[in-house]
Amino acid sequence: MEVSRLQRKVIQLKEKEKALILAHNYQRPEIQEIADFVGDSLQLCFAAIRAEDAKYIVFCGVDFMAETASILNPDKPVVIPDVEAKCPMVAQLPAKKVVEAKKKYPDAEVMLYINTLAEAKAEADVICTSSNAFRIASKLDSTKVLFGPDRNLAWYTAKRCSNKEIIPIPENGYCIVHKLFQVEDILLLKKSHPDAEVLVHPECDPEVQQIADFIGSTEQMRRRCFESHSKKFIITTEIGLIDRLKRELPGKEYIPAFEGAICYNMKRHTLEKVYHALESKKTVVKVPEDIAKKARLAIERMMGLSKQ
Ligand code: 13P
Ligand code: SF4
Repeated sequence: MEVSRLQRKVIQLKEKEKALILAHNYQRPEIQEIADFVGDSLQLCFAAIRAEDAKYIVFCGVDFMAETASILNPDKPVVIPDVEAKCPMVAQLPAKKVVEAKKKYPDAEVMLYINTLAEAKAEADVICTSSNAFRIASKLDSTKVLFGPDRNLAWYTAKRCSNKEIIPIPENGYCIVHKLFQVEDILLLKKSHPDAEVLVHPECDPEVQQIADFIGSTEQMRRRCFESHSKKFIITTEIGLIDRLKRELPGKEYIPAFEGAICYNMKRHTLEKVYHALESKKTVVKVPEDIAKKARLAIERMMGLSKQ
């Protein structure tokens, strides 16, 4: 079926069913266009708690994001269009590894990246996202902070919180997509486009972060494009963000730092699957209440500290 026709069908069904569609910035453009809200991980937490009028949420993002929306909204069904949309990074830090690290460092506080499953979050004192990691770390009481699974975000946070010892768990957690960016590729692009600003996500390797003009979450990168006087940007994150920027700010130019930076897990959701999820409401994401209760405390603490 033609994309725009299917989009109209999705919108009609969504309205009839009183569903709210939330989508991450890496979603396919045709999904971003019909979503009620598109944003980064932190914004999607706040969007999930604002869903009072909706009967259910259709979450177009990966497993940990849908789980978080469900934890924050225990009475509202959260449906995911493709249950196999899983962030591979979360598997790098199972709950048992957090428990082991807590035993090894009993005087440390545990701040986990939102890119973890609920069971791991339940072991944390607080959660963070790429947009607030150093702000949250700086507000913790203890000097030692256990943080994982993303080693590069740990490095980024440690650089900005020199009074904290950030201990990465595991030793070398990473995102398979942000690992693809290479300093040499970016420097070559910069040579051909000397007027372009290099915007980098903190999941990128430290060498890549070191040549950035700006580092931030997907939303912070987007905002930078709006606020900067520059007309050209080298975008060093998953290419879905470029689809959004081209649609919302077409007067500027966006150059992908690497065209192959595609998160196939995020892209598992298609418009057809969104339609079927709305129709069947079968693929509900649910976290057992004992785990959800503990994880909720850590997520809500982050949300509270983010506003301060
Ligand atoms: P943001 O919170 O910046 O949107 O990042 C989420 C993510 O998974 C990045 O790979
Ligand atoms: Fe996970 Fe990386 Fe995909 Fe983000 S881009 S969802 S961290 S695999």
